[in-house]
Amino acid sequence: MFNLNELKKKNICIIGFMGSGKSIIGKDLSKYLNIKFYDTDKEIELKTKKSINKIFKEDGEKYFRDIEEKICIKLLGQDNCVISLGGGSIINKNIRKVIKKNSYSIYLQVKLINLMHRLKSSKKRPLLNKKDNKKELLEDLYNDRKKFYEDADFIVSNNNDKLQVLEKIKSKLNSYAN
Ligand code: S3P
Repeated sequence: MFNLNELKKKNICIIGFMGSGKSIIGKDLSKYLNIKFYDTDKEIELKTKKSINKIFKEDGEKYFRDIEEKICIKLLGQDNCVISLGGGSIINKNIRKVIKKNSYSIYLQVKLINLMHRLKSSKKRPLLNKKDNKKELLEDLYNDRKKFYEDADFIVSNNNDKLQVLEKIKSKLNSYAN
């Protein structure tokens, strides 16, 4: 069975765009590996006692990004866990540095067109709440962040079946086991 020590990493983190399935896959992977699971957005909500939507509305994006940086860096310092990172955290240089140092990173790659479908009616993504130009907004964010996501240790596409994705991740991790 795979062990994080073999990679000299503290934990596994799941990165990717909003709607790419990070929380579901992250949770399933943590169950398979029998280690803890964290979702950075959930931790932010617990800490602030507010929904992500409410934080953006009442306190603004800058405030959210500051808390996000603190929470992500704290969680990325933990041993033996799977962490699903909020999609925008990758734009933060300090977070990227800690990912490189501590984490085996897995990018869930989803085609822009599929993300558009998945996020079409999402009310939980404050960045996309502006009604008119959702498509352009999504496209811009996608293009800005792609290069950072693609720097992951392992890239797996999550356009179809989540079970297949999980199998690919398991088999990749197990290839590192002695
Ligand atoms: C964001 C993604 C969201 C959440 C916030 C901002 C982003 O997380 O952190 O709405 O900038 O892409 P998910 O990737 O879990 O949707």
